[in-house]
Amino acid sequence: MECHAATFPSEGDLGAPRPYAATYAFNGPFIDAYHRRLADSASNDPAALALFTGKLWWKEKIRGWLRIEDALKLYELAYFCEADILELGSFHGLSTTILASAVRNAGTGRRVFTVELDPVSCQNTLMTLRRQRLVGHVTQLCTDAVAGIERLAGQGSRMGLVFVDHAHTYEAVTAACRAIPAVTAPRGFVLFHDFNDERNGIGGDDDYGVLAAVTENCVPSAWEFCGVYGCAALYRLS
Ligand SMILES: C[S@@+](CC[C@H](N)C(=O)[O-])C[C@H]1O[C@@H](n2cnc3c(N)ncnc32)[C@H](O)[C@@H]1O
Repeated sequence: MECHAATFPSEGDLGAPRPYAATYAFNGPFIDAYHRRLADSASNDPAALALFTGKLWWKEKIRGWLRIEDALKLYELAYFCEADILELGSFHGLSTTILASAVRNAGTGRRVFTVELDPVSCQNTLMTLRRQRLVGHVTQLCTDAVAGIERLAGQGSRMGLVFVDHAHTYEAVTAACRAIPAVTAPRGFVLFHDFNDERNGIGGDDDYGVLAAVTENCVPSAWEFCGVYGCAALYRLS
């Protein structure tokens, strides 16, 4: 297991591209063929990734905002995850597809729980998962992120990976940071999207407070910083 502490962005290079690097040890640059094909998923539409669906001649373009480095890290973390996985914010199911494909391909029987507030996005995610034949690996909760965390924690769920991608504001990400430990297994990973984004910086966008919320709430006594990949920051709970 490798951490990349030197990838923490300084104010001067916030938003500068950070390459994908492996956290887990595996042979070669990619885990399997699906992981390799993610690296070749760029589409002409900057708001979509064209994902390979397992047949070499067929790609499906799914709307979303993942960079290829984010997609590679999500797949790796889900593939090797030692417990179930929680996603906050699914939109059209781009990240949900990558997480569910990883647990299917790993064959570990892990489940992906995805929490989405918007009923239309819940429906779009379901349609994407149906087309990808991944419905059986995913449980959808169409509710608010913190409400979903509290419901799952109350049921005794303890996740090995939480992907936080429902909000950019300081308040919403702070609320998630405070709620997440209750639903996370010991030594569980949390991946925060939009952390390495210049809009979080001084003079940036007032609606962007991901970096401040994470660094103020995920304190070193309880959370270990493990690296930045694309625009996502990886932390691990103690
Ligand atoms: C950036 S998009 C998620 C993108 C998705 N992860 C992907 O890979 O394409 C954020 C999503 O979070 C949802 N959302 C916003 N506020 C939320 C909340 N409080 N709880 C749960 N979902 C929320 C939005 O409806 C939207 O679909």
